[in-house]
Amino acid sequence: MDDTGASDFIVVANRLPVDLVVDEDGGKSWKRSPGGLVTAMEPLLRGRDGAWVGWPGVPDVEVEPLEQDGVVLHPVRLSAAEVAEYYEGFSNATLWPLYHDVIVPPIYDRTWWHTYVRVNQRFAEAAAKVAAPGATVWIQDYQLQLVPGQLRELRPDLRIGFFLHIPFPPTELFMQLPWRTQIVEGLLGADLVGFHTLGGARNFRWLATHLSDATATGRTREIDYGGRTVRMGAFPISIDSGELDQLAREPATRARAAEIRTELGDPKRVVLGVDRLDYTKGINVRLIAFHELLVDGRIDAADTVMVQIATPSRERVDAYQKMRDDIELTVGRMNGEFARVGHPAVHYLHQSLPRDELAAFFVAADVMLVTPLRDGMNLVAKEYVACKFDLSGALVLSEFTGAAIELNQALLVNPHDLDGVKNTLYEALTMPAAQGRRRMRALRRQVLSHDVDRWARSFLDALDPDAAMASPG
Ligand code: ADP
Ligand code: F6P
Repeated sequence: MDDTGASDFIVVANRLPVDLVVDEDGGKSWKRSPGGLVTAMEPLLRGRDGAWVGWPGVPDVEVEPLEQDGVVLHPVRLSAAEVAEYYEGFSNATLWPLYHDVIVPPIYDRTWWHTYVRVNQRFAEAAAKVAAPGATVWIQDYQLQLVPGQLRELRPDLRIGFFLHIPFPPTELFMQLPWRTQIVEGLLGADLVGFHTLGGARNFRWLATHLSDATATGRTREIDYGGRTVRMGAFPISIDSGELDQLAREPATRARAAEIRTELGDPKRVVLGVDRLDYTKGINVRLIAFHELLVDGRIDAADTVMVQIATPSRERVDAYQKMRDDIELTVGRMNGEFARVGHPAVHYLHQSLPRDELAAFFVAADVMLVTPLRDGMNLVAKEYVACKFDLSGALVLSEFTGAAIELNQALLVNPHDLDGVKNTLYEALTMPAAQGRRRMRALRRQVLSHDVDRWARSFLDALDPDAAMASPG
């Protein structure tokens, strides 16, 4: 398919919305990619005539552009060495820990950096080839922070937006990065740089005016750079909450939720965790809190069970292997101590589940535990709320997520304070129904009125204010 230079709206992300699966006989199929970025961007592009430039998720494969649901997907090829150095290395062993409060020490490796520059350039060239004159290009996330600058060099006619899906770090931490100036200058290639929170936008503005030639204008959300104005702002991302609300209400989902509870042994209370298996998510914190409540005798494994569903993620990165071992050790210990034959205290699934199955788990859960040590937003928290159409359920939510700013009617916890997490989990398990309903009603009002469509519109309107003014909606 030749779509060269034909697209007016292009998303550029490390991954395509679908991952290529190559079976033993060389047969090819596609499956949904992991993570919140795809959850958010997929409904946005559905039904739009757009293009998506990204990596198909496996190294060394040549895939022709293809069309899916009206979106033209443009695969970017990465070699095995580039996956190791650009994706597992610089993106996920340097930037990811640095931007998440150095929960594990970032590794600063010059070879990885050079590969990051080269691979970003390849994404920029792919986007430049696909974009029609004057097109809007929306670049996503920390893996591609140099692309805005590289793309502007190639195609100054384009309108370029960038959105960071993870936290932007405090300036003191960012300053550790040996290539801090290049990253900031890369981002300054955009017309608009978006973050989940105002804090992120402020940190970026400070860094841009201290590390590059950018100069402050009189306005707090913009700077001048290279003869242009670069704007920045907070755009808290969301989910397709209406669709999830409908899915949760479907008789099949409700029946499956009831069946899940039966399969769990008809406990009085079901506590749930759902995450990509990542050390930022604080999975061990919640397991230990649950364990200690069992040890203290405040809850009983005979009537309260925990389910932790964890999507495999970044399995070749050392810190992820270590964290997985720690979590599986904790789960094994807990079950060794508190399970009965046929009745584990913790059900642990190292699997990715289909959306309708996940919705059934959300409907079935009495308490949702979302305890990241740091998270840009956390869409799982919003998904749980969207599924609780009957106002049941309680959300325990870490203060260190972007979601906590909007979901202030959740039971907020500091994940570093184990006693606090224990007591809050206990509070959630014993909360009077009327209080739970009041909180859930307020949470749902927020999540249902601030969906992903509103998020995308607010970013794209800010990127192109003239078009926004001209549009009747
Ligand atoms: P991140 O982007 O860091 O992975 P988010 O919470 O923002 O975190 O988004 C995670 C997305 O992945 C959500 O849409 C969630 O439903 C989905 N997800 C997480 N765990 C699983 C799982 N085990 N199976 C299927 N989907 C999952
Ligand atoms: O939202 C954060 C994010 O890193 C996305 O950029 C990414 O697509 C998703 O999580 C899943 O991670 P990965 O692509 O490394 O599997």
